[in-house]
Amino acid sequence: MSQIPKGLKRDKSTKPLDFVGLKGSSEPTERWKSQIQEFDRVCGGGLVPGSVILVGGDPGIGKSTLLLQVAAQLSKGRPCAYVSGEEGIAQVRMRASRLGVETTPLQLSSSTDLRSIIATLESKEAPDFIVVDSIQTMYLDSVDSSPGTVTQVRCCAQELIRVAKKTGSVVVLVGHVTKEGAIAGPRILEHMVDTVLYFEGERGHQFRILRSVKNRFGPTDEIGVFEMTQLGLQEVENPSAAFIADRHDDVSGSVIFGGIEGTRPLLVELQSLVAPSSLATPRRTVIGWDSGRLSMVIAVLEARCGVSFAGKDIYLNVAGGLKISEPAADLGVAAALLSALSNIPFPKDFIVFGEIGLVGEIRPVSQMAARLKEAEKLGFKGALTPPKRAKDALVDSSSFKLHSIKTLIEIFEFIGYDVKPKEMVHGTY
Ligand code: TYD
Ligand code: MG
Repeated sequence: MSQIPKGLKRDKSTKPLDFVGLKGSSEPTERWKSQIQEFDRVCGGGLVPGSVILVGGDPGIGKSTLLLQVAAQLSKGRPCAYVSGEEGIAQVRMRASRLGVETTPLQLSSSTDLRSIIATLESKEAPDFIVVDSIQTMYLDSVDSSPGTVTQVRCCAQELIRVAKKTGSVVVLVGHVTKEGAIAGPRILEHMVDTVLYFEGERGHQFRILRSVKNRFGPTDEIGVFEMTQLGLQEVENPSAAFIADRHDDVSGSVIFGGIEGTRPLLVELQSLVAPSSLATPRRTVIGWDSGRLSMVIAVLEARCGVSFAGKDIYLNVAGGLKISEPAADLGVAAALLSALSNIPFPKDFIVFGEIGLVGEIRPVSQMAARLKEAEKLGFKGALTPPKRAKDALVDSSSFKLHSIKTLIEIFEFIGYDVKPKEMVHGTY
């Protein structure tokens, strides 16, 4: 006899599950659009009724501003509410008038009592869309811990998710990203909600990026680009043009990387500076990219191509405050470093992309055609790329030149850096 724990013994009244086939006649769900296109696209083409969205980001980055704008737009078509647990009515009203949305029918409340929010969502006049700003200020009196603690944040979110699924309202939770500690950040809620969006950007820069890192109803890694202005967040319609607008021509260390963010190509400027160091361990400073990958690119350049960065400080910056995570930026970084080291400007009409392997080979990356098309659209004359694969149908015309390289060492000839690389070193150096 197998030992069945008592709790698992089959009860006569328990019915087995009713299964159905994969093909059904259920209508595709309608999506609600805010008309703020950058926001709608990041959500996968609009909001899905009954879904819960978490919007995380550093304090002061613009989450409340964005969601007030979104809620105000949506309120023109359906009942919407904005509950602030952080700011008073007067403060939110002041912001609304600054954003020019004070005449929209958005309903506003200042509260931290989760029970009343749940009661609102369960009532007859429940809003279709509600923003809870922020989840860290909310308080459920049946939970014996203070607002902002892991238990409290989790229980409040759980309640809101339950009621959203039941009533079909869309609930947006705002969560501040916090340093590790007793206070709970948005991370602990990521697995519970349907969609996780992060609002990023450098405080000193005007650009803000809304990025989907999880979406049960759409693609992830989709980004929306906004600009923070005196009148709130404005959509940036042509992000590539915006990110390369401030570029100086003919300076060394600057390279335009042809990236992909979500489903969209995005051109961004990578800047590098290589300067003599007075430190025993020279500095390696990166803003907007992964420092581990920078070390790898430097190591491959040194070990496989024979250049030396010894005794030099290295700075790498992604202009505009953007964060890039694609390995396709490797070749762009290598090009920027070599250009800075040699003091030779990289051809200003060329974009670059490609992944670098540890033996110095250049690997193909995804969506080459989309990257090239974006560059051509913005007036570039060519691209430094990985080798073409048979399936890639790529533009290579007299007005747009492809320069494909197989190994990193070929980049020297391309930029005209006439260093006689030491004999190729294999293994350790
Ligand atoms: P906020 O939305 O309060 O940030 P969060 O909710 O993420 O903490 O945004 C705060 C910053 O945005 C604040 O420093 C001022 C700036 N801001 C503008 O530059 N223009 C505007 O129109 C508004 C409303 C805010
Ligand atoms: Mg706020």
